[in-house]
Amino acid sequence: MSARSHRSPRAYRGRLLTPAAAPAGGSAVRFLDDALLVVDEAGLIAQALPFAPGAFRGPVLDLRPAVLMPGFIDAHIHFPQTRIIGSASGALLDWLERSVFPEEARFRDDGYAALVAAEFTARLRASGTTTCVVFSSSCPGATDQLFRALLHAGLRGIAGLTLMDQNCPEALCVPRDEAIPAARDLVQRWHGEGHGLLEFAITPRFAPSCSRPLMEAAARLAQDHDLLVQTHVAETPAEAEATRREHPWARDYLDVYDRVGLLTGRTLLAHSIHLSSREWDRIAETGSSVVHCPDSNFFLGSGRMRLGDARARAVPVALGSDVGAGRSFDMRRSMSSAFDNAVCLGDRLTPADLFVVATQGTADAVGLGRVIGSLDAGKEADFIAVRFPEHVLAESEVLNHLVFASETAVVQRAFVRGKPIYP
Ligand code: GUN
Ligand code: ZN
Repeated sequence: MSARSHRSPRAYRGRLLTPAAAPAGGSAVRFLDDALLVVDEAGLIAQALPFAPGAFRGPVLDLRPAVLMPGFIDAHIHFPQTRIIGSASGALLDWLERSVFPEEARFRDDGYAALVAAEFTARLRASGTTTCVVFSSSCPGATDQLFRALLHAGLRGIAGLTLMDQNCPEALCVPRDEAIPAARDLVQRWHGEGHGLLEFAITPRFAPSCSRPLMEAAARLAQDHDLLVQTHVAETPAEAEATRREHPWARDYLDVYDRVGLLTGRTLLAHSIHLSSREWDRIAETGSSVVHCPDSNFFLGSGRMRLGDARARAVPVALGSDVGAGRSFDMRRSMSSAFDNAVCLGDRLTPADLFVVATQGTADAVGLGRVIGSLDAGKEADFIAVRFPEHVLAESEVLNHLVFASETAVVQRAFVRGKPIYP
């Protein structure tokens, strides 16, 4: 049986929570106390409707009192940092030197990479994350292991070989004439595999660790195959200073990526904290998206991203854990940290805002908004079943517990394209 097919139509019964069409600038959800989620043989959602006896004639899996909701989407995570979560060794550049680079060097060993890739996918599934946008290490073999593990786990994943050809330890430094052919090979091998569940992403680590010719070649490869581009930008002032030193020809940090052709309608810019108005305007003009990684920003002391700067320009905002600077694979931790981040800036997000950003909002920002992100008919059936304490009944209580008391809201099952992937 192909991964696309899904035996026969079936339905799932439970409570149901999904983003709904909202008035401009607002967040709306749809909550049903007793619902049927009907999934067709191709793994597409046929209907999400209030339960009524006889409403569906096929097999029904009764998951009550769990709440069915879209699977979470982590738009920024580092696979080779799985084992170094919580390494509090300093601010960004020190942390990279002391904790990240030594660990990422271990991924030159395929056996080690395979072991950690299995841990990585297990932790995503257990957290209710059904889609991830991932940085691998700079090692092609490790990236191959990552794709194998994603395929084996049944996850939806967009992953890339991390490009770095300067300002990094020799063990991680891969010159352009090796890195670009390796990336091209990985595109051939993995882009579109798993019947489209897997994609390859062009992944320059960040401007200080990439030469101009490497970034230009990477941009051409992205263009040739219409690939998603992911990188970091404006996470800390020290990193911006290093960028100025390495790339004095650019007018500011964002301009480095702009001039080499890396800013496209499929570019994800992680962090985006210390940006000027000009840079924000340019992100909007190019149709790029930003990835908000608040838990990481607190952990490394990088600063507070202003959601208002993005929203004022209709720049799509995704949410990312940024593990291993983020301290949890659970996107609910990121939602909760996004709330804290906003409070620090004098703003207040509602649990509904956070839920919508983490689901439909992130799907839109990564270019999958028509495919996943809500439980609407016609979308692929990527969903989870979450169990709450018995007293959590009303929509507002479900949202509050989901976002702020996630230890009481247990992910019981996860499905991608209607296929069970967890437990
Ligand atoms: N900037 C460059 N590399 C990294 C990384 O691995 N994590 C974070 N948070 N920022 C980066
Ligand atoms: Zn990152």
